[in-house]
Amino acid sequence: MTLRAVKSAEPAAANASQCCILPSCGAAFGLNDRIYTCPRCGGPLEIVCQPAGPSDPEALRKLWAARGASHEPRDASGVWRYRELLPFEESAPFVTLREGNTPLYSAPRSARYCGLEEMRLKHQGCNPTGSFKDTGMSVAVTQAMVLGARTVVCASTGNTAASLAAYAARAGLQPAILLPRGQITAAKLAQSMDYGALICEIDGNFDECMRLIQELGVDPSIYVANSVNPFRIEGQKTVAFELMEQCGWRVPDHVVVPGGNMGNSSAMGKGFGELLALGLIGRLPKLSVVQAEGSAPLARLFAALGAAAGAVESPIPDTLAPVEHPRTLATAIKIGAPVSWIKALRAVRRSGGSILSVSEQEIADAKAMIGRDGIGCEPASATTVAGIKKLVAAGRIRPGETVVAVLTGHVLKDPDYVSQYHRGVLSLDDPEGAAPPERIHGTFRNVPEHVAATKAAILESLERRR
Ligand code: F0G
Repeated sequence: MTLRAVKSAEPAAANASQCCILPSCGAAFGLNDRIYTCPRCGGPLEIVCQPAGPSDPEALRKLWAARGASHEPRDASGVWRYRELLPFEESAPFVTLREGNTPLYSAPRSARYCGLEEMRLKHQGCNPTGSFKDTGMSVAVTQAMVLGARTVVCASTGNTAASLAAYAARAGLQPAILLPRGQITAAKLAQSMDYGALICEIDGNFDECMRLIQELGVDPSIYVANSVNPFRIEGQKTVAFELMEQCGWRVPDHVVVPGGNMGNSSAMGKGFGELLALGLIGRLPKLSVVQAEGSAPLARLFAALGAAAGAVESPIPDTLAPVEHPRTLATAIKIGAPVSWIKALRAVRRSGGSILSVSEQEIADAKAMIGRDGIGCEPASATTVAGIKKLVAAGRIRPGETVVAVLTGHVLKDPDYVSQYHRGVLSLDDPEGAAPPERIHGTFRNVPEHVAATKAAILESLERRR
């Protein structure tokens, strides 16, 4: 027996367009124009779409919940289940690997570590390729199919590449990826190789790869799948919908995400904003973004703006001073010039959240604590718990408030980092080679012990270390 998709009344994508988000421009363009930034002013684009199907919040909640019991591929996807809010016709050639559907865990040890009564971790690392990128890639690769593109490209610190490679392979398209040579983890590179991507290793950092992508994007043979592409954001916004379902539609006080190129934070903000506009939630959670100290251009700007940083009505600055030599062991977010910073800053401001940075030591210790909760994540994801600890200490999060941290990548994305931390040999080189390497202390280290092959020796070892 084949199960039929649970249908809504109308096709999606009615009245959808791509709009420049800058108040000084606001130009609108066709949904299927192959553009990534505003052709008129160069500003960021976002998709504006009239929701299809029921507009009554309760009817939408019921429809989405009913799909959770269906095995039809679109209903089983944690992205396409929410298709009333996605800019596609019912007949779209959607590409899915059953992305989304990720767990929301309680994390008591991490909560205590931060000084909170409770904390929940939304683990986006449980997506098909091990990172949150899959929700966005499902939608961006579907749009590539709609447009008849053949080659889909991205610049990446590893996860976007692995995700694009997998979804393009599913769709029968050619994935091509630009990576900063020697700066991404072996596990992530291996994934892209496995999925058959054409891999270009560039001498330069992620920001240089991203600059090349912007040049390549004008070539008609190429479709760009970085988060500058507004369709990526459409997929990634659905995590806000899934999270609210999992919270029984009770809005958490705070949602905290890591920040790199700032697509994730932009998407979260868009997702919650749409839920608020539709009356599915009555207020926004405070959205906060955490960067690694050595790669924190937006946290720096936020701090420099002082009292105006969080003011919704104060104008967004024209430029963001990039970090020329970004530095962090959390290689996923080793980014000095994030492309989506305007959208992210706008989303944080609207919600009343903040943007901050954390040190390498803070990231490493928070990561170990998440591991102790039996969850695990890649280093970039642990910026969230490190950031929450700082926000609690600063009184910006109160101990009794409800807090969700979004973990973005799986622990096996970077096993070298894990074992070096636990062996107490984790260190970060100075990019200019001028200063000695920064040693990271294995505060919560857990070192394997060489034990003789006898019962007595094993029991003695366990007893001593219990
Ligand atoms: N966490 C992980 C595990 C990531 O891979 C990334 C970004 C981020 C957080 C930051 O998200 O860029 O949306 O602010 N990785 C990109 C990549 C840059 O190429 O895989 P963001």
